[in-house]
Parts: sequence; structure tokens; C-alpha cells
Amino acid sequence: MQSENSYLNGAWAPVSDEVTLDKLEVIGEVPKDLNGTYFRNGPNPKFEPNGRHHVFDGDGMIHAAEFSNGKVTYRNKYVETLGLQAEKKAGHAIWPGLMDRPDRSLPEGWGSDGWLKDNSNTDLVVHNGQVISLFYQSGDGYLLDPKTLSPRGRLDLDSMGVRSISAHSMVDERTGELLFFDYSTKAPYMTYGVLSSTGELTHYVPIDLPGPRLPHTLAFTEQYSILMDLPLFWDTELLERDIHKVVFHPELQSRFGIIKRYGAGDSIRWFNADPAYIYHICTAREEGNKIILDGCRMESPAPPPEVLDKKSRLEAWTSNNARLYRWTFDLNTGETQEEWRDDRHSEFPLVSGQHLGYDARYSYNALIDQHSKTLRFSGLAKYDLDSTEADVHDFGPGKFASESPFAARDNSNAEDDGYVVSFVADENSDGSEIQIFDAQNVSDGPVGRVLLPVRVPPGFHAFWAPESYL
Ligand SMILES: [Fe+2]
Repeated sequence: MQSENSYLNGAWAPVSDEVTLDKLEVIGEVPKDLNGTYFRNGPNPKFEPNGRHHVFDGDGMIHAAEFSNGKVTYRNKYVETLGLQAEKKAGHAIWPGLMDRPDRSLPEGWGSDGWLKDNSNTDLVVHNGQVISLFYQSGDGYLLDPKTLSPRGRLDLDSMGVRSISAHSMVDERTGELLFFDYSTKAPYMTYGVLSSTGELTHYVPIDLPGPRLPHTLAFTEQYSILMDLPLFWDTELLERDIHKVVFHPELQSRFGIIKRYGAGDSIRWFNADPAYIYHICTAREEGNKIILDGCRMESPAPPPEVLDKKSRLEAWTSNNARLYRWTFDLNTGETQEEWRDDRHSEFPLVSGQHLGYDARYSYNALIDQHSKTLRFSGLAKYDLDSTEADVHDFGPGKFASESPFAARDNSNAEDDGYVVSFVADENSDGSEIQIFDAQNVSDGPVGRVLLPVRVPPGFHAFWAPESYL
């Protein structure tokens, strides 16, 4: 079974070595005014999975490219989670995966329903001078040294009275605050909070939901945070029997909860919209008494009912046909307007961290290869969110990018005055490289390619940290 699993083979096959490499071949040039570190998280199972492996199950591994005055250093390290440490001690995988059933005879797990391993494989942010590695289903915040990726323990959520923290917590890079939420099968079904720029808990409230939900991200503006209650969640009756079957409910609305950054839980205002699932947002902003949210929307994340065999259903759940979309919430009337913005399938959007939540106009999205059974990014689109025009680069046959952040050049004087960086996996050569684009000319192709003598599998989320953050 595992030998056929698309997420354990080919480009997605895990790597086992942890390396630091600084004598790297470059085609083109590494700009001297690109200074900082590109961090990317992703699943990389250490041991042979003992169940039906889902791409969300692998142990977190951070890949980092440090840029300094025209030189690049690459390094990678596992996130030394409590679960991984226990499995290393045992010499084999212990916890089942997302597609398996809970095994309550095992040591208690983590996540929103308490039986999975917190693999910390999903996202990461740099906050208060440290890398925080995060788990999509809500877990710990694993701290890493931003220069060496060495473990520095965990965020001390217990002493703050915080239950857990979900992957798409976001840093407001203008204030340095970390905005976070979690979700759980146990009440409160959602919590929301804020850590200050120096790591103190400054806000933490429960959010009332009709039942357990599975939101993936939040969004924020200068004054507000936007939380989500989407019609994708566990079958409630089965959940009572500890069967975790995820169901999409097209008969229900999507709901967006808008709350002041330091608002009380019961002050949240809910806005209805058409049913959908949202993994990732580009940005949000305030415009008078309106809040505009740009993101990538899937009409239905679930496999069609006619897809019956288990392997095809697993692949269908991990495929993604999201497209650019805009929701406009009118704070005066309580109404929502919504519209598709583009026909291309795109996901993993990132905007300049300095403009996220304020006035970001450009979003750098990964174009999804719709011919692949695994999630692969065959192109890069820089969207102008005002006009929806896109500046597009295709990576070519067999080459697949990672989530690609914008990296401002030194003394940058415009939102897009800088670069876009990405790890690119090449199935033709079984190699990988770091590609650097001029953010104002994405379709010209990379200005620099740093060839890696090791493979970097595709992964999940990334963060660009300018040198001053580290
Ligand atoms: Fe995500």
C-alpha cells in the first residue's frame, strides 16, 4: 500500500539527512540586496507510516535558505516534536494518521480531537526573534533558532492558559503581534488570542460555534480579525462514537466572524456567504465601513460521491481546485458580497508581510497542476488584487515550486520592490534548486537559480524573514 502512496514516492518521497550547505552552484545571480531567510515547512515522515498515509501526516521538516550579501546557505532539520521524540525512542511510528481511526490504547495524541501526532509540519512564522513551527490541527508552537534551526523548546501555552494554537496564526508585521486561533471537538469549539511582539499573552477569548468545526486559517486587518465557520466538519453523530468522518455540507452557509483585535468573544459579528471551503487567504483590508477579504475558494473540498475506491478518495481529498475570490463584508448592513476573480486554479497565496492586513495589492499564488494526482505547483502567478491581472511563470515539465514568499530588497521603495523566492523540485533530475524572481517581472523567469545537491520535497507553508527579524 505505502509503495503506491503518491505522497511517499517521487518528488514527495521524504529525505532523511539533515545538512548545512554553503558552497552552492549558482546560475544567474543571487542579488546582494536580498538579505534574510526563506523558511519552508513540510511533511517528511521519519518512519514507515503504520496506517493509510495522508500528506498531512508526515513529521515536520524545516528547509531554510539564508541569503547574505549574494551568498546562500541551505539547511534543513526535523522539528523535534514530542511525538517524533517518542517514535525515535521506540524506533517506529506510533500514532495513526488522519485517514485512520483513533487508537485510544496509544498514549494520548494532540490536535483538535486529541489522537493524532502533533507533527508541526504545516506552517511557521518568525515572531519575537524565533521561528515558531505550527500544526494545522491545532497543537504546540515549536520554537527553533532562526540561524541553526536547532530546537528551543515550545511556546509555554500551559502557563498562559492557552489550549493550543492552529497553523495559520499570523504575524502583523507592523505591530509585531501574533494573532492566533484554535479549534477543538471539545467546547469551546474555537478560541482566539493575541501574543504581543515580545511574546506575552495580551488577549484570549472563547468563540461560540454551533459545534466542532475545521477552519484552516484566520485573516486580519488593522482593527479586526476574521474567523471562519465553514460547512466542512465531522459527522456529529459519528463523532460521538469516536469516528472522525469529515463531511462537506453544501446546504449550509459559510460564516465569517469579524471581531475587533481585542474584542470580547461575544462581540463577534457573523456574516453569511455561499458554502465553500477555504484553506488560505491572500490578505484582508478595511475600506471605509467595509472589509475586503481576498482568498482562494473551493466550491467543494469533498470527493464527488461517484468516487468510491479508497485510494482515489484519498487523492481527491488532497487535490485542490481553488480559485481567487473576493468577499466584501459591509459593517453597516451586515451583508456580504462575493465574486470569483480568476479562472486559474491557485493556492498558497502570500503577500508582502509588511502589507498583509493593511494595503497589500499584490498576491503571489502557486498555480496548481490540475493533471497531477498529488498537490503540485506548476506555476507562479503574481496577482494584482485590484485589477486581477496576473504576471505568470510556468516552471516547466516535471518542475514543482513551493509556497513562494515576497522578499523585499534592501531599501525597498514599493510594495513589490524586491524578489520572490521558492524551492523548486525537479522530477526530471531528482534534484532541487532555489529560484529567485524579480517580483516586478515574474514572467521573465528566475534571475537566479541556486542548485542544491540534495532534494527538497514539495511541502506546505513558508515565511520570509528579513535579516532585521532574526
Ligand atoms: Fe495551510
